[in-house]
Amino acid sequence: MFTKTAKQYDAVYSYKDYESESELITSMVRQRVESSKTLLDVACGTGKHLKHLSKQFDCTGVDLDTEMLAIAKDRIPDVPLHNGDMCEFNLNTKFDAVLCLFSSIGYTKTIERMEQAIANMASHLQPGGMPLVEPWISPEAWLVGNIDSETYKTDEFVVTRMMISEPVERGRLVLEFLIGDSNSISEVTETHEMGWFTHDEYLNAFKKAGLLIEHLEGGLTGRGIYIGIKA
Ligand SMILES: C[S@@+](CC[C@H](N)C(=O)[O-])C[C@H]1O[C@@H](n2cnc3c(N)ncnc32)[C@H](O)[C@@H]1O
Repeated sequence: MFTKTAKQYDAVYSYKDYESESELITSMVRQRVESSKTLLDVACGTGKHLKHLSKQFDCTGVDLDTEMLAIAKDRIPDVPLHNGDMCEFNLNTKFDAVLCLFSSIGYTKTIERMEQAIANMASHLQPGGMPLVEPWISPEAWLVGNIDSETYKTDEFVVTRMMISEPVERGRLVLEFLIGDSNSISEVTETHEMGWFTHDEYLNAFKKAGLLIEHLEGGLTGRGIYIGIKA
């Protein structure tokens, strides 16, 4: 995960427009259930969606990584944030909408854990509530040996990230970072063990969790989005 590079996360993903994504999420939720009030962001990361969504909903966030949560806490001190695994957390509360965005579901890695995560999201929904899950890459789009590098600059540091996709089961990303500030340059490696899932595997997981499911092509970032309704 991003434990060693949480401080660089927002710089590396600075191309993402969290504000317009949040506007789209708001309209997806409100078009389906106008009265929706409460929203949980599972794998909320540094809280950039929650910053915008908390102007529209009573929001809560969950993430496994305490470094990412610490950044989210600084960004959105008034939003309750919890440390937990998406497959197992239990907040003893039910929400009108539960999100899991930007490939986070891929970190469940196996079908069993992906199904557990979807079932756990379903158990945090009110009847009529809505899960919105943005999938990780599809198996058709997964290119083994794909190598990529990019450099990002902020006032505090420069970070260059090189990434390779490895041929391990359903996908492994190895990321090498060079992080430089006015004192030194350091090198960090992170291995992201993930899993791609087929369209049918996502559909099946939603059905097993007792959710009606709809798939929108395109979605927020081009990977599509699964939207359910809890009966
Ligand atoms: C690509 S980031 C997405 C973060 C945020 N949703 C966004 O849009 O920027 C993936 C996030 O999933 C979190 N994560 C990975 N495995 C998790 C798990 N089992 N339970 C909860 N969060 C997890 C990571 O800590 C990280 O914050």
